Amino acid sequence: MPADATSAAPLLVARDIRVHFGGLHAVDGASLEVPERSIVALIGPNGAGKTTMFHALSGFVKVDTGSVLLGGRDVTRKSAHARPGLGMVRTFQIPTVFTRMRVRDNLLVAGGHARERLSTALLPGVGRRRAAEVERHADELLERFRLAPLANEYAGELSGGQRKLLELARALMSKPRLLLLDEPLAGVNPTLGNELLDHIVDLRDSEGMTVLFIEHDMHAVMGISDHVVCMAQGAVIASGTPDIVAHDPAVIDAYLGAAVAIEEGTAHD
Ligand SMILES: Nc1ncnc2c1ncn2[C@@H]1O[C@H](COP(=O)(O)OP(=O)(O)O)[C@@H](O)[C@H]1O
Ligand SMILES: [Mg+2]
Repeated sequence: MPADATSAAPLLVARDIRVHFGGLHAVDGASLEVPERSIVALIGPNGAGKTTMFHALSGFVKVDTGSVLLGGRDVTRKSAHARPGLGMVRTFQIPTVFTRMRVRDNLLVAGGHARERLSTALLPGVGRRRAAEVERHADELLERFRLAPLANEYAGELSGGQRKLLELARALMSKPRLLLLDEPLAGVNPTLGNELLDHIVDLRDSEGMTVLFIEHDMHAVMGISDHVVCMAQGAVIASGTPDIVAHDPAVIDAYLGAAVAIEEGTAHD
């Protein structure tokens, strides 16, 4: 963890977020902070409101109350469409790659390539230069995520794990400051999962990126997070270092339960 991670001003601040679906208060007054250049895990049982919190942070639902600040700027009323341009990008629990499009084209579209090509007609030179830059960035990411050999495959042909990698690569096309990842390891085999975790750490360490991720795999959470936030029933019930949150009685009660007790038991053997 970088030495300044805890002292840095938070890049993302969410205050008192409330979102309801009919009579159900999916997020019920939740607040969290994500320091710049840190990796923060959002954990909690199914139905806790984690994904809905992500929807609120990324503008996919309208919040009833509360505010979202990105780099000190209030983005609460900004559309989901506008937020990548402000430096915030998210991925989904179920990857949203274009299955009937080739792998490389998935990246080009995410980088606004088609738009740049179009603008070539209006602004010759400028559009072409930008389009070439987008292509270079896409090829760099394909290499980095070892997807280059699959560049011309249809995304629909990829394994679940490869789709997760492609979705992460797509998110990186807009060079975000803040990356929101909803269950990046779900459905990913352990080898690819470890690779993904290494990528996430590398994004923080070599690119200064900030990552908030939802995850159920506690080994992954404990292994790479600087901070952990736990939600249950729409509220944040604990936040702090991974160690403190994992030992918080409220967290054990609402979420970790026997899993931690078993692990602790074997640790003492
Ligand atoms: N679009 C929706 N319409 C109605 N209820 C929803 C919707 N999305 C989520 N919910 C409900 O909101 C609660 C929180 O869900 P969610 O945010 O997906 O939790 P988590 O990601 O922590 O599992 C759950 O009770 C879920 O059934
Ligand atoms: Mg979820």
